[in-house]
Amino acid sequence: MGILNRFRVEEPQDLDAIYKVQVAAFERETEADLVNDLRGSEDCLCSVVAESNGEIVGHCLYTKVNVVSEKGSFSAAALGPVAVIPDLQGEKLGTMLIITATNMVIQKGYPILFVLGDKEYYHRFGYSDASLFGFSLPYVTPPGAFMVAALNPKNLKGKSGVVHYVKAFDVFK
Ligand SMILES: CC(C)(COP(=O)(O)OP(=O)(O)OC[C@H]1O[C@@H](n2cnc3c(N)ncnc32)[C@H](O)[C@@H]1OP(=O)(O)O)[C@@H](O)C(=O)NCCC(=O)NCCS
Repeated sequence: MGILNRFRVEEPQDLDAIYKVQVAAFERETEADLVNDLRGSEDCLCSVVAESNGEIVGHCLYTKVNVVSEKGSFSAAALGPVAVIPDLQGEKLGTMLIITATNMVIQKGYPILFVLGDKEYYHRFGYSDASLFGFSLPYVTPPGAFMVAALNPKNLKGKSGVVHYVKAFDVFK
């Protein structure tokens, strides 16, 4: 029998399973603890799980970021952390999680999105080098690792600035 996967917003009973998924994927507690810190905050824009055979096997978040320049500031959304349990990696669960969460955050009114991660992976979702559009982080990152995506190129017109994640992400500085 084939198994269907479901991608949905996290529910209160998922919290332990989400913690375990994040630890399993990253082989440490940092990302799992970060997810717990962000949960319930108004800066957590959406938290999505992948369910397979009744088990939580993947999880990702979008959080609010503040983009600041001399022209002023605006809010956008940043993807991460994204996690799929090692046994099921490479089966497109990560792809479906990201597409689901991205649709949700766009529906919530965030047409400009950022991610810090592997460019080979995130290019397929429409992300490209944020520095080419005048966006940066307040700290140094590997070339091309900080990326931006927009619902429409017009959304980026006249926009640039330094992108500030919420304080909980300082654990990565
Ligand atoms: C990254 C991750 C969420 C992707 O989920 P997934 O379900 O394994 O990915 P998918 O099956 O949707 O996509 C598979 C594709 O992504 C590529 N890929 C997976 N992880 C990658 C990574 N870390 N870097 C680059 N490419 C990656 C695979 O090579 C594969 O490429 P292909 O489609 O050209 O064959 C998952 O592998 C994971 O949890 N990794 C550990 C935690 C992590 O690194 N998270 C991301 C931090 S930025």
